[in-house]
Amino acid sequence: MPDGPAVTVIAPMRIAAAGSRRRAIARSTEHQVSTTPVAPRLRCPRLAVSWRGYRLGGRCAHAVAIPSCRGVRAGTVNNIGQMTYILAMADTLTRDHEGPVLIVGGYGTVGSALTELAAPHWPLLLTGRNPEKGAVLVDKHGATVRRWDLTDPAPFRAAVRAVIGTVNDPIDRVLTAAVGAGVPYVDITRWTSRMTRAIAVAAVMKPRAPVLFSSAWMGGITSVVAAALIAERGGAAASVDIAVRWDMNDMAGIDSVDFMDRLGYDYEVRRGGLPVTVAPLTDPRIVNIAGSRTKVVRIDTPEQLTLPITLDVGTVSTRLGFSSGAATTALLAAKKAGLFRWGKGDRWTSVRRSLLYSPGEGGNAEIRVDVDGEGGRTSATVVDPRGQAHLTALGGFLGLRRVLDPTGSEPGVTYPELHPDPASILRSLPEHGVEVLRE
Ligand SMILES: NC(=O)c1ccc[n+]([C@@H]2O[C@H](COP(=O)([O-])OP(=O)(O)OC[C@H]3O[C@@H](n4cnc5c(N)ncnc54)[C@H](OP(=O)(O)O)[C@@H]3O)[C@@H](O)[C@H]2O)c1
Repeated sequence: MPDGPAVTVIAPMRIAAAGSRRRAIARSTEHQVSTTPVAPRLRCPRLAVSWRGYRLGGRCAHAVAIPSCRGVRAGTVNNIGQMTYILAMADTLTRDHEGPVLIVGGYGTVGSALTELAAPHWPLLLTGRNPEKGAVLVDKHGATVRRWDLTDPAPFRAAVRAVIGTVNDPIDRVLTAAVGAGVPYVDITRWTSRMTRAIAVAAVMKPRAPVLFSSAWMGGITSVVAAALIAERGGAAASVDIAVRWDMNDMAGIDSVDFMDRLGYDYEVRRGGLPVTVAPLTDPRIVNIAGSRTKVVRIDTPEQLTLPITLDVGTVSTRLGFSSGAATTALLAAKKAGLFRWGKGDRWTSVRRSLLYSPGEGGNAEIRVDVDGEGGRTSATVVDPRGQAHLTALGGFLGLRRVLDPTGSEPGVTYPELHPDPASILRSLPEHGVEVLRE
């Protein structure tokens, strides 16, 4: 698409009807942009807000920078009837082979665990909306902390060795900044539909560095374990079944709850190589996970998308159950009553989330992976006594090691299960305090 003539856009927001004109214009900033839009006009049905992205400085600015109406700025847009929002974002990352690893969301629950794992290996730059919250990690690990609010159009600039996303990136802002700059990138946050979109975005951008989508359960650990088991069987498997036991005492950060809202949406998986649509929280099984009989039900996770493609597995199923049978029963009752369908709207958000989000002080992360095919079943159960945040962070850390390995990392999109030696990862888990139980 040819660029139009460069113009300076002042007042990125223009209100076309009655509303909070004064406050919206106060948010204006100045950007040099071309007049060629790179994104279609989008509309938010709730507040009738629309916006457009423009090309900035020759790079795709991916400027549709408003993940939700509230993202425009909570509290400032309530009275707006009709508004055009023109925004060009100019995040600039550059690749610096000696620079820090940028952990976006780096002092959150998963980010802090990752910081602990990564600090002995690389200098670290952590970002979030409230950098003061990272003070402990600055003292303990010598990390640098800076503000990068992904809902704020203020541009972010840094020279970094690699980027890992440990906070939701709903408009692919971090992804496009990293891929556009040819910086190795790892993500552990995207649910399946977001990952599918991100893969499409990355493909269009023709990555010059590795782009590792490691959002499979526990930062991709499940996928690597499945790959290791399949490799043990000579590389072939008809099915992979993953069963997760969620410890009710485990910790989880608030940024995780968006994922839980996916329980309202059916999703597509492969069964015997053919596509089928599955409803979440259905198809129950009782599975022995590390000695505990656990009722588990279907959930949408990215390994169910990728393993059939990457390792040619005909059927991949991931299920989850709680360590408390009563909690699983309550969740299934809510599902049966239709809460996840009729209660999809914002009004019901707190009710939905109260069922799913009650983090504790810490617990075990336990996952069983069964691989079936010719010659029977091969199984492994992974138990991390430091909990799901640590195991997810470990998945992210192993991903960083992979994308930063000059001998083993090619440019382009890849997945955890395509690790060149997944068996070595399975063998190395105990070094990180993670037990691997084999039957
Ligand atoms: N793949 C997996 O198996 C797996 C497992 C666990 C978690 N996850 C994902 O990992 C992510 C992090 O989870 P968590 O439990 O660590 O959440 P968390 O504790 O809430 O951490 C989120 C971090 O991001 C920052 N942040 C939040 N909103 C931001 C924004 N708009 N712009 C910039 N920074 C922002 C927060 O700091 P401020 O509040 O100061 O901004 C915080 O440091 C979630 O997306 C979750 O779904 C994936």
